[in-house]
Amino acid sequence: MNAREQQTTLEQAARKRIKDSHALDGDIGRLAHFYRGWASSYELDVGRDGYCGPMIVAELAGAVQTAYLASERTAIAILDAGCGTGLVGVELERLGFRLIDGIDLSQEMAEKARQTRVYRHVQGDVDLNGPLSDHASASYDITICCGVFTLGHIGPDALRELARVTRPNGFIIVSTRKSYAEATSFENEVRRLQDAGVLETVQCLNDAKYIAEEGAHYWVFKVPDSACAETEQHL
Ligand SMILES: C[S@@+](CC[C@H](N)C(=O)[O-])C[C@H]1O[C@@H](n2cnc3c(N)ncnc32)[C@H](O)[C@@H]1O
Repeated sequence: MNAREQQTTLEQAARKRIKDSHALDGDIGRLAHFYRGWASSYELDVGRDGYCGPMIVAELAGAVQTAYLASERTAIAILDAGCGTGLVGVELERLGFRLIDGIDLSQEMAEKARQTRVYRHVQGDVDLNGPLSDHASASYDITICCGVFTLGHIGPDALRELARVTRPNGFIIVSTRKSYAEATSFENEVRRLQDAGVLETVQCLNDAKYIAEEGAHYWVFKVPDSACAETEQHL
């Protein structure tokens, strides 16, 4: 096999692993098992497929801080929800953010994120589909969730908990693969949460670059002043 054929084989294998990850039906046992096996080669695989989500969400966090927040980047508390191996944290650190916490379902992915040393704290075995019971309301200035609102992973209703842990007047930045947004009617959930006063849409980059096979939408939400009371009432 020559170098070019070898490269093509590796790219095909990477695409297959990415595709397989979308068929896990949100089953946390299967997801944890799958990512346990993928943790060591995840970055190589998504790199081969041109994954640029982490760079885009980090740049959006930089723009949000510059445009809206009074504190310096070093003092902005960020939650990287579904941090994986830490690709988002590394981009955030490059842009001057320092108070970054990571959570993820997979202990092995979380351990990789820990090894980057850009996070203040990383916790594995956290399911974003349920209540984030170790996290007080209004803990973060910015919450980011990149590559997790994707088929077979978490449902759109996980947005509500991300809003709860974000402080009033703080921001949530998420990516949604195009196919995911369509299949789950993500926009309907956004509308429901907007109507309930849980969040407001500030910006959406529609059909932007994400990974070779398809684009994503990147959403920036603001948590309104009154959101804490609304979210607690709901719970
Ligand atoms: C495609 S990776 C994205 C990782 C990282 N954010 C990035 O952009 O590289 C998806 C991550 O979501 C995590 N994940 C999947 N389902 C989850 C759930 N229900 N709760 C928390 N994390 C979950 C996986 O363990 C994996 O690390």
